[in-house]
Amino acid sequence: LKLPPYKNEPFTDFSLPENQSAYREALAYVRSTFGRTYPLVIGSERIETPEKIASVNPSKTSEVIGYTAKARIEDAEKALQVGWDAWQEWKNWSMDARARVLVKAAALLRRRKHQFSALLTLEAGKNWAEADGDTAEAIDFLEYYARQSMKYATAGETYDFPNEENRLQHIPLGVGVSISPWNFPLAIFAGMLAAPIVVGNCVIAKPAEDTGLIAAWIVDLLHEAGLPAGVLTFLPGLGEEVGDYLVKHPKTRFVTFTGSRQVGLMINENAAKVPRGQKWIKRVVLEMGGKDALIVDETADLEEAASAAVASAFGFSGQKCSAMSRLIVVDSVHDELVRRVVEKTKALKVGSGEENAHVTPVVNEESFEKVSRYIEMGKSEGKLLTGGGVDGSVGHFIEPTIFDDVQSGAKIAEEEIFGPVVAVLCARDFDHALELANDTEYGLTGGVFTKKRERIEKARMEFQVGNLYINRKITGALVGVQPFGGFNMSGTDSKAGGPNYLDYFLQLKTVAERF
Ligand code: SER
Repeated sequence: LKLPPYKNEPFTDFSLPENQSAYREALAYVRSTFGRTYPLVIGSERIETPEKIASVNPSKTSEVIGYTAKARIEDAEKALQVGWDAWQEWKNWSMDARARVLVKAAALLRRRKHQFSALLTLEAGKNWAEADGDTAEAIDFLEYYARQSMKYATAGETYDFPNEENRLQHIPLGVGVSISPWNFPLAIFAGMLAAPIVVGNCVIAKPAEDTGLIAAWIVDLLHEAGLPAGVLTFLPGLGEEVGDYLVKHPKTRFVTFTGSRQVGLMINENAAKVPRGQKWIKRVVLEMGGKDALIVDETADLEEAASAAVASAFGFSGQKCSAMSRLIVVDSVHDELVRRVVEKTKALKVGSGEENAHVTPVVNEESFEKVSRYIEMGKSEGKLLTGGGVDGSVGHFIEPTIFDDVQSGAKIAEEEIFGPVVAVLCARDFDHALELANDTEYGLTGGVFTKKRERIEKARMEFQVGNLYINRKITGALVGVQPFGGFNMSGTDSKAGGPNYLDYFLQLKTVAERF
C-alpha cells in the first residue's frame, strides 16, 4: 500500500457562509430520506423483518427519521454462518487489498461528509461541529487502520537461527461481534468494525438501537467501497436479544463493545463462559464509562481552565465517556474559577442540533429520565449554581447544570450520569485534588490545569486515567494522535486509534522450518 502519510481529517469551519449553506442543504437532503426502512444485511441478502426499530429525532420526539429492521435470533445465527463462510476467502486477501477497501470508503465518506454529519444531527441530536467531528473521526479510523495494518503484513521480529527459517506471522481470529454505542454512532461504529476487518476478520455489527440509520449508511458505503458480501453483517436488534445471543454463542470468536460499565461487565462475564462446542477463549475488548475529573490548581490560567471545563462538560451535552463530570478546584481559586465557569455556562444556548445550539438534547427518554433523577439527587447532595431545568415536551432537553460543594462519596460525584451535569468538589491543595480525582472506580480521561512542572509530572505518574490532558480540554481524542481507552472500570485499555489496537484482532503463529 503506497499512500501519503496519515493525517487527521480537518474539521469544517462553520463560520464560512459556504459551509453553512452546504450543511443546510445536507440537512434538507437527509430530511428528504425520512421514513425509509433499512433492512438487515447478511451476505448478499437484504432482509426485512416483521418488527422494526424506529429512529427518532431527540430534538423533536414526534418525528420519526426512519426505521431499521429488528433482527431475530435466527438472523443472528445466519449471520454467524455467513460470516464464517465469507472468512474462508477474506482471510486470504492480501493486507494491501483489504486496506484499500478502507481507504476507498474514507474517500467516499469524505465526499459525502455533510450528508453523514447531517444525519448525525437529526438522529443523535448533535450540533454541527459535534456531528462534523464524529464524521471526521470515522474517516480517521478508516485511514489510520488501513495504514496500521501494514505493520502486520510482514513477519514479526525474531532472532535468526542457523539452518532454519523462523517466522512469526499474524493471522486473523475469525468472526466476531461488535456492539457499539449511540454517542459516536458513526466514528465508533466504523472504527470498531474497520479494525478487525482490515486484518482479515469478519464482523457482525450490532449498532445501538437509537442510531441504527447512520450505521446502515456506513455499512452501505463500505460495500460500495468494495467490501465483499458476508465480511460485514449489519444486524440492528436488541442488545438483550441478539447481542446477548451472539456474545454467548460458541461460534463467536471475539467481542468488541463500547457502552456502559454495567453492560460491559455482563458481556465480559458471559463471554468468559464456555458453551458446548466452543473451541476457544473469546477475545473481549471493552470500552466503558468514565467519571472524568478536571483539576484546577491555584497557579492555573483560570480563564483557559474555565473554557476547557465548559467545553469538556457540555460538548454534546456531556454524552461522551470522556466528558468532564467532576471539576476539582483548589480552595484558594474556587470562587473565581466557579464564577467564570458558571458565567460561560449561562451563555450556552439549549436547543436542537439542527439549529446548531450549544447544548442539544439527550438521546432518548430513558436517558432524559435518568439525568433528571440525578439532577434531583444533586439538589440534596450539593448547591445548584446554574441549570437544573429539564423540558421533555418537544425533545429531551436538559439545561447544563452545575452543583457546587459536592462531597466525595456523593452519588453525583461517583456515578456516571452521561448528561450535562457537573459536580464541583473543593480540594485543600493539589495533592488533595489528585486524591479526590483518583477516588473512583473509573479511569478514562482526566485533566490538570496548573503551571507547576512538578505537579504536571506527578499527574503523569499518579493520575489513574488512560487519557490524561494537561492544560487543555479532556474530550476529543484524535485518532492516531491520542490513542483512546481507559483504566480500571473504564475498560480493557485497548486504545482505539492507537498503534496496538489491531493486535486485539490477530493471533500469532510461529513457524520454524529446518532446512
Ligand atoms: N473519543 C471520544 C473523546 O475523546 C470519546 O469517546 O471525546
